[in-house]
Amino acid sequence: MGRVLLAPMEGLADHALREVLTRIGGYDAAVTEFVRVSGSLLPVRSFLRVSPELLQQGRTRAGTPVIVQLLGSDPGCMAENAARLARLAPPGIDLNFGCPARTVNRHGGGAMLLAAPDQLFRIAEAVRRAVPSTLPVSAKMRLGVGDTSRALDCALALEAGGVGSLVVHARTKADGYKPPAHWEWVARIRDGVHLPVTANGEVWTADDHARCRSVSGSDDVMIGRGAVADPFLARRIRARRAGVALPPDRRADWLELRPHLADYWQAVLGRVEARHAPGRLKQWLTHLARTFVEAEVLLRAIRHAQAVSEVTPALDAAGVSVRREAA
Ligand SMILES: Cc1cc2nc3c(=O)[nH]c(=O)nc-3n(C[C@H](O)[C@H](O)[C@H](O)COP(=O)(O)O)c2cc1C
Repeated sequence: MGRVLLAPMEGLADHALREVLTRIGGYDAAVTEFVRVSGSLLPVRSFLRVSPELLQQGRTRAGTPVIVQLLGSDPGCMAENAARLARLAPPGIDLNFGCPARTVNRHGGGAMLLAAPDQLFRIAEAVRRAVPSTLPVSAKMRLGVGDTSRALDCALALEAGGVGSLVVHARTKADGYKPPAHWEWVARIRDGVHLPVTANGEVWTADDHARCRSVSGSDDVMIGRGAVADPFLARRIRARRAGVALPPDRRADWLELRPHLADYWQAVLGRVEARHAPGRLKQWLTHLARTFVEAEVLLRAIRHAQAVSEVTPALDAAGVSVRREAA
């Protein structure tokens, strides 16, 4: 059975959402949103802010390992920060070579590095050397900046630099998040390297997952937005692969999801400034509305809510009670 991984999603899949999604289950591991490394040695609290899981052996409460992702373009600085992170004993360190954000790319980080395979090599090598050999170092890449001409060069550079595995988000930076994802490119990269390669991009259903595996040839698949839109997706994938797939029962799933939504809201209230909390909930509901009509209704009810005091009664009315006993 291939592995199902929860993708890093900065500003979306933070610690609170990872807790919920891994508790619902089906994920073998998750990757944190990126920790930005730019010119200085970060204090320990910067790593803990992104991955509070580091305080519990690098795992969510459900026991899912959480790999911490670093983003940066300077090999020495990346190495120094990776060494500090390694002392916090994450289950792995992942290097981000795919972020298309303008602020990140302006400093030569993220997806822009895909134009410079030599630099990928230097970063991977420096990080690999700076951390214990027992600590897995992986990399996540897109297919290129504007086109795919250097995709294999990038993968080979990362392999030569010593990363132990690769995740390929099967789009270029220029593709953004536009469908389709070019899973056939994952197959080409797999043919060119000797590393385990995980396929990523546009998996929204268990059927997509099966097609992605068959086109890419990768057993392991990483899921991003699909996991946020359908928190039961990884379980559906497992059920389908075990031959026990039933047609999704959206109503039953929504009822199961409600206490998790309540937990999420409570976690957000504990972590985020109150004025930002409603926005976080609306963001998740916007994704959930792809799957659940009830999420759409709830979203409509709180669309204009700015204050926590307006959101909690709407949640109560929808049966999302924040005062329930913790599971
Ligand atoms: C809101 C958002 C934030 C993201 N942040 C990160 C990140 O911090 N690091 C990273 O490597 N990829 C990041 N990604 C890319 C995802 O990990 C994933 O590669 C991409 O969404 C494609 O997978 P999907 O089609 O299953 O969503 C982000 C994607 C989204 C939508």
